[in-house]
Amino acid sequence: MGMTEVIQKAEQMVKNFHERDTTGHDWWHIHRVRTLAVYIAQQERANVEICHLAALLHDLPDDKLAVGEQAGWNLIERFFAEQNVPRAVCDQIRDIISSISFKGGTGTQTLRSLEAQVVQDADRLDAIGAIGIARTFTYSGAKGTALYDPAIPVRDQMSLEEYRSGKSTALNHFYEKLLKLYSKLNTDTAKQIGRHRHELMEAYVREFLVEWDFSEHRE
Ligand code: ADP
Ligand code: NI
Repeated sequence: MGMTEVIQKAEQMVKNFHERDTTGHDWWHIHRVRTLAVYIAQQERANVEICHLAALLHDLPDDKLAVGEQAGWNLIERFFAEQNVPRAVCDQIRDIISSISFKGGTGTQTLRSLEAQVVQDADRLDAIGAIGIARTFTYSGAKGTALYDPAIPVRDQMSLEEYRSGKSTALNHFYEKLLKLYSKLNTDTAKQIGRHRHELMEAYVREFLVEWDFSEHRE
């Protein structure tokens, strides 16, 4: 079976998997990431099919999702076996997916391929800008996290455990992660797309705090 068919099959499986997600990791996130990944791969002369397949599968092994990280890896392995995906392709996809996650900045993984850089950029671009803002509040709502609380400080250095379960707010997440992403983008193509998204988020956070202060001063 050729890569085009493998990609089609992956799309079906992943649609099914992400169908009921309400944490901002729904199918449309996957769809946007694969569109960005294909575009960036073309511009950067990376392997388009590898980037496409990795983008489709990238959020299956996620420790934040209900089924857990290992269950996601198992699904990927079963998919590889069922579709007879060539060994070299499996290795590349595993390498990309395991190396791209942010995990509070605690990940020490270095990206070993241009394709990993492309898929990471695509995922990060969908975390910033107008959609990134929306996803953050969706995720926070799903987890029951407060919009903002001036008494909860922005965390600087933190372990993965703290990043996931420590006390934070939706607004703090902009400082703890989202505003750091632009300067970490790998490719020039992603930096071009990301610049406006980053500036929009900066303006948004500024406005948010201006509105917040209005109430602070009028108690
Ligand atoms: P990671 O790579 O850190 O595991 P993801 O890329 O899966 O995170 O996160 C996807 C999106 O989910 C983030 O861009 C953000 O919008 C939202 N999100 C994740 N963690 C949080 C959080 N602690 N608070 C608010 N939003 C979050
Ligand atoms: Ni993702």
